[in-house]
Amino acid sequence: MKLAGRYSKMQPSGMVKIFQAIEKMEGVLNLSIGEPDFDTEHDIVDAAARAAKEGFTHYPPLQGFLDVRVAVCDYWKRHHGLDATPEEVYMGVGGIQSPHLALQALLDPGEEVILVEPCFPPYFLQVENAGGVAVPVKTREENGFAPAAADLENAVTPRTRVLLLNSPCNPTGRVISREQMEEIAAFVARHDLFVLSDEIYESLIYKGGHVAFATLPGMKDRTLTMGGLSKSHCMTGWRIGYAIGPAELIRVMTLIAANQTYGLNTLTQKGAVWALEKQDAKLLERRKIFAERMDYVAGRLNKMKGVSCAPAEGAFYLFPSVKGTGLSSEKFVWQLLENAHVATIPGSAFGTSGEGYIRIACTQSLKTLTEAMDRMATFLDSL
Ligand SMILES: Cc1ncc(COP(=O)(O)O)c(C=O)c1O
Repeated sequence: MKLAGRYSKMQPSGMVKIFQAIEKMEGVLNLSIGEPDFDTEHDIVDAAARAAKEGFTHYPPLQGFLDVRVAVCDYWKRHHGLDATPEEVYMGVGGIQSPHLALQALLDPGEEVILVEPCFPPYFLQVENAGGVAVPVKTREENGFAPAAADLENAVTPRTRVLLLNSPCNPTGRVISREQMEEIAAFVARHDLFVLSDEIYESLIYKGGHVAFATLPGMKDRTLTMGGLSKSHCMTGWRIGYAIGPAELIRVMTLIAANQTYGLNTLTQKGAVWALEKQDAKLLERRKIFAERMDYVAGRLNKMKGVSCAPAEGAFYLFPSVKGTGLSSEKFVWQLLENAHVATIPGSAFGTSGEGYIRIACTQSLKTLTEAMDRMATFLDSL
């Protein structure tokens, strides 16, 4: 069998390599996994089961059921002040599908997409698959890993079409402040760009409130807000995401997806209606638990030799610097895994400005995190 040339040399990403290594090991404390450790609330499961018994077992509408799109609009209005109509919402298969479809819909061959890195690794290949060119803009810890205005300006060419943002950010866990967003918005307007704003971690924010990029003056018509229920409602396995943006873009994304996934699982959508309408108190509960864990882990990390960690801002990630150990991110992570059986992800797996950092997901109980930090401290003392 002959594979397509462009895929025949495909290798697992830095993140997948760690996941594959863990599968073969025993006794690993896994701080590499970007999903909440909580199961989906049972009343969400019940709502989906009820829908199945009521006969919601047929093909769904391609753009998503009207009730779930209304629930998405209500959720974003209630939490983030974003005005949208159901025509402006696409229900997709996981948060990961939205940037893929949007890039397919927006890019002509050779057009450029500015990626603020370190970032969620699939973006790179999604841009390439859409015939575009990814233009990474490096960020620095001193600036909270937000893109500096001068660096954005330097990245622009006449072919630049899209800026892809992600706040709260995977992997850094940092949040772009309102002031920084306003600077970015001015840049976007100046160069007539379109923004794909991945806000999948909007419910997990520990510093100020979440600012939806589309709510900044002049940005609604140039922004696709991308979210989902994987992280906010612990529904990773249900594979549900959505995109909110200009109706014409949503229309084309829906048509492209009709040739791919043909709609989102009906029961997932019905469970999501319940989740979006009835689970606000649970969001707050979980946010409190993640905040506690992250404060604890950051505190422990800052007492370790060669490590420094900024306080938690968003998502469930910490992104400590390990530069003081003299090891590269990769070496650090693999030695920590092999010697201490603690799994993390090298910052360099998310782009070159992640070098010198590691990603720690606080998606385990405080007990497991305590044990992991004990092991990591012992590992560092042994270096
Ligand atoms: C920034 C970001 N966007 C999108 C996704 C995809 O989420 P989903 O599991 O809903 O596809 C993730 C998952 O880790 C993520 O970190």
